[in-house]
Amino acid sequence: MNDTVIETERLQLRQMTPGDVPALLGVFGDPEVMRYYPAPFDEARMQAWVDWNRRSYAAHGHGLWALILRDTGELVGDCGLVSQQVEGVQEVEIGYHVRRDLWGQGMATEAALGCLNYGFTTLGCRRLVSLIHPLNVASRRVAEKIGMTLRREVEWKNKPTCVYVIERSAILRR
Ligand SMILES: CC(C)(COP(=O)(O)OP(=O)(O)OC[C@H]1O[C@@H](n2cnc3c(N)ncnc32)[C@H](O)[C@@H]1OP(=O)(O)O)[C@@H](O)C(=O)NCCC(=O)NCCS
Repeated sequence: MNDTVIETERLQLRQMTPGDVPALLGVFGDPEVMRYYPAPFDEARMQAWVDWNRRSYAAHGHGLWALILRDTGELVGDCGLVSQQVEGVQEVEIGYHVRRDLWGQGMATEAALGCLNYGFTTLGCRRLVSLIHPLNVASRRVAEKIGMTLRREVEWKNKPTCVYVIERSAILRR
C-alpha cells in the first residue's frame, strides 16, 4: 500500500488510521512528551485525535500525519500541517510530536522540513506558523532550525504562546 504523503531521508509521513492508536499512545501517553499539554492522552483521547486528523485530511487536504521510520516501518510520532485560528487570522501550523527515546536525532527537524516544503510547494501556502509554549525549548529550536523566526507572543487557547513564522517569499529569495 503506497499511502505516502511525504518522504524524507529517514522518515515517511502518511495518513493516520484508527489502527495507529496503540502506537500513537506510545508517544502521546508519555507524560514527558505531553509536558506542555493538559495531560497525557488515554485511549479515548487518542482515538479522538486520529478522528480529528482524518476529518482534517478530508476538509483541508492536510493534518498531522503519522511519522514512520522508513528502516523499520515503526510509527514514532506525528508531524504535519494543521489549520488554526490565531487572533482571528486563519493560519497553517507545522506541528510535531516524537517518541521520547528518539529525541535529539533531528527527527522532528527532518519531518518539519518535509512539511514546510509540502506546504509551500504542493499546497501553495503563503506562510506557515508554529505555535509553541515559551518554555518548550526543544520545539522552539526545531522551529528555528527550519528557518522560522519568532514574530510575537500571544495568549492562545488561554496559554502564553510564541508565534513562529516563515513566509514563502523568504524561501524563494534564498
Ligand atoms: C519538540 C520535539 C518534537 C523535538 O523532537 P526531536 O526529534 O528531538 O527534535 P530535533 O532533534 O530535530 O531537534 C531538537 C533540538 O532541540 C534541542 N533541545 C532539546 N531539548 C533542549 C533543551 N532542554 N534545551 C535546549 N535545547 C534543547 C536539541 O539540542 C536540538 O537542537 P540542536 O540540533 O541545535 O542541538 C520533541 O522534543 C517532542 O516530541 N516534544 C514533545 C511534544 C511537543 O512539545 N511538540 C511540540 C508542540 S509545540
